[in-house]
Amino acid sequence: MSLRRRTFVVGGHITPFIGKNHPDFIWKRHPDFGRRENPTLEQTITAAVRGALTATGTEASVIDKAWIGNFVGELFSSQGHLGAALVGADPGLLYKPAMRVEGACASGGLAFSSAVESIQAGTDVNLVAGAEVQTTASARVGGDYLARASHYATQRQIDDFTFPALFARRMKAYFEAYGVTEEDIAHFAVKAYANANKNPLAHMRAVTVTLEHAAAANERNPKFLSNEDLQPYLKVTDCSQVSDGGAALIVASEEGLRKLGKEPSDCIEVLHVEQATGNLYDDGDPLVMQTTAIAAQRAYEGAGLSPSDIDVAEVHDCFTITEALMYEALGWADKGKGAELVKDGTTHLDGSLPVNTGGGLVGFGHPVGATGVKQILEIYRQMKGLCGDYQLASTPTTGLTANMGGNDKTVVISLLRNV
Ligand code: CAA
Repeated sequence: MSLRRRTFVVGGHITPFIGKNHPDFIWKRHPDFGRRENPTLEQTITAAVRGALTATGTEASVIDKAWIGNFVGELFSSQGHLGAALVGADPGLLYKPAMRVEGACASGGLAFSSAVESIQAGTDVNLVAGAEVQTTASARVGGDYLARASHYATQRQIDDFTFPALFARRMKAYFEAYGVTEEDIAHFAVKAYANANKNPLAHMRAVTVTLEHAAAANERNPKFLSNEDLQPYLKVTDCSQVSDGGAALIVASEEGLRKLGKEPSDCIEVLHVEQATGNLYDDGDPLVMQTTAIAAQRAYEGAGLSPSDIDVAEVHDCFTITEALMYEALGWADKGKGAELVKDGTTHLDGSLPVNTGGGLVGFGHPVGATGVKQILEIYRQMKGLCGDYQLASTPTTGLTANMGGNDKTVVISLLRNV
């Protein structure tokens, strides 16, 4: 999408991402079990929206239109119709146009894209939220719910954990084609957990993972698939988390900034947003994330940028192998060489292209509908010096987010600039 009107991210709010292994997550052995409960989907949406309004000093009454990204609220929380839930988050939103958008794990990215598109059509101040609560079900039952992002009729039976199995298939193909090892790929998990350990909002903020732990299966890190062909290729540390959480942000035109009393320098600017969609029924080449590559190419061309112009990025690491394939699809590494960038430190916090600085989906967590919104806010937070212990030493100028739904099916790439 080429932008005819300048569009800015004014700021927003991310709730803590919580779930199993997070110190505040209530489960049967938690000292507060029976006395306190984990936030519901409704509470999570409200916390994200109110936090974003407060953080940006926005009165809900100035918002023109609102979107929320969510994948399967009906299944995890028996709640759909989340446009109306969004309006319920603040009295000032009553009777505003609001809707939910769904594109599996790219739902948040689609919500952002819709809000930016609406600015091009003439709105001035838009609200974008994303939320998912997934810990209402076991990881196994949740695996069935998440399998709705694949072609359920033909892919559900691959394994109870359908998505882990689909990406184990990519891992297997990658190892066989390029001679890459489990230890090479384990460097992604080590980076993700190390970054999350510096991030108070991260699901895995209190869990440390060494290379030794991540590089080979062990009692703490089992290969948990039951599909015999794919079982050897994926361990727990290769996976994103089953997280609860929300995020919300405000986007505005130049006129919108005037209404909000903001300067462009308070914000980051949206340079380009690109969306591409693959065929649900055909997973194509396991060695290539083709939909991501096409969206990225269109985004770079549209913004007049090249892959080497990116200073900081948030990429969709639903599994460790996904991050390697993302580096290749985004033009940063040759095929089969994605892991080199994490092994040589390039994508670490002190590298030349830091990626997933707050821990990504593996470390920060993956409340599906919130992820795409959180990614945009993470770039904003790095550009505005708000990242605390994981703040980059030099302020980035140009950022990229890559949010992906399904097995490389719905992809939203955003290019952002510090103003
Ligand atoms: N040996 C063998 N198997 C073991 C084991 C051991 N030592 N320990 C555990 N297991 C097995 C068990 O079978 C267990 O299942 P049951 O308890 O039901 O029998 C299974 O591993 C999982 O164990 P836990 O439930 O204890 O694991 P957990 O709660 O810590 O979850 C996880 C770990 C399964 C990896 C979970 O985090 C997960 O499912 N992550 C992936 C989430 C996901 O797929 N998200 C979507 C990503 S795809 C995307 O982003 C795109 C999109 O559009 C969907």
